[in-house]
Amino acid sequence: MSIIQTSHLYHRFADGTQGIDDVTLTFNEGEFTVIAGANGSGKTTLLRHLNGLLFPESGTVTVCGKSVKADPLAARQQVGMVFQDADSQIVGETVYDDAAFGPENLALERQQIRQRVNQALAAVDLSGFENKQPHHLSGGEKRRLAIAGVLAMTPRVLLMDEPFSNLDYPATCRVLNHILDLHQKGHTIIITTHDLEKVIAHAQRLVVMARGRVVKDGIPAEVISDIERWGIRPPCSVQLGRGIRPWVN
Ligand SMILES: Nc1ncnc2c1ncn2[C@@H]1O[C@H](COP(=O)(O)OP(=O)(O)OP(=O)(O)O)[C@@H](O)[C@H]1O
Ligand SMILES: [Mg+2]
Repeated sequence: MSIIQTSHLYHRFADGTQGIDDVTLTFNEGEFTVIAGANGSGKTTLLRHLNGLLFPESGTVTVCGKSVKADPLAARQQVGMVFQDADSQIVGETVYDDAAFGPENLALERQQIRQRVNQALAAVDLSGFENKQPHHLSGGEKRRLAIAGVLAMTPRVLLMDEPFSNLDYPATCRVLNHILDLHQKGHTIIITTHDLEKVIAHAQRLVVMARGRVVKDGIPAEVISDIERWGIRPPCSVQLGRGIRPWVN
């Protein structure tokens, strides 16, 4: 069953840059998709349309069959997004408040909010940081906080824009594990990354973008064969002719 659909999506920015150029894509419920592409290929612009942070110049985006433009708040209740720029996602005065912001807006009970926030902070190894000011966190810690804030909402669709940038090895493993758990529970996952190595063995679909368009879309083992021509580094195992292998076992 499809959960998100874009149809002939175009987006031109005020300065004339064509961010998205005729993108028609369907994401099915429970699917784990990786979107790859060189810098400026339109990945972030596309994700921002999927939860109503940007609206199309023409074409449509629907979430659960409803137009995102007509009801962006309804879309955002289903679709959570971890931004590429973690600083711009900080909303709370403390780490706890920041991670609680999303669940509070879902009008959950206090006890349930506390439980979700504590779980999400533990998932990104930020337990004990609750009273710290988010602006004092390191780059990687800020990213982990941004991820915790979205995990605490457990959205039906999770959009993650370059979630692994800035993360060290243990944090990457922890976040990856959490993403895989959510996927196993039936959540729809869409991740953009330059670092296919970490996620591609778990993804069911690989979409490649170039100059605002979708240039490849299919199962990773097939799409990955000529991925270098789009400016994307293939995983080492593929370079060695050993197919797609998990990054950690
Ligand atoms: N607000 C804006 N105004 C003008 N141009 C923009 C704006 N935001 C993005 N662009 C342009 O749109 C194109 C797509 O940008 P986008 O951020 O979607 O790329 P990306 O694939 O996410 O790149 P990266 O890998 O660097 O994150 C780029 O050429 C970019 O310069
Ligand atoms: Mg981007």
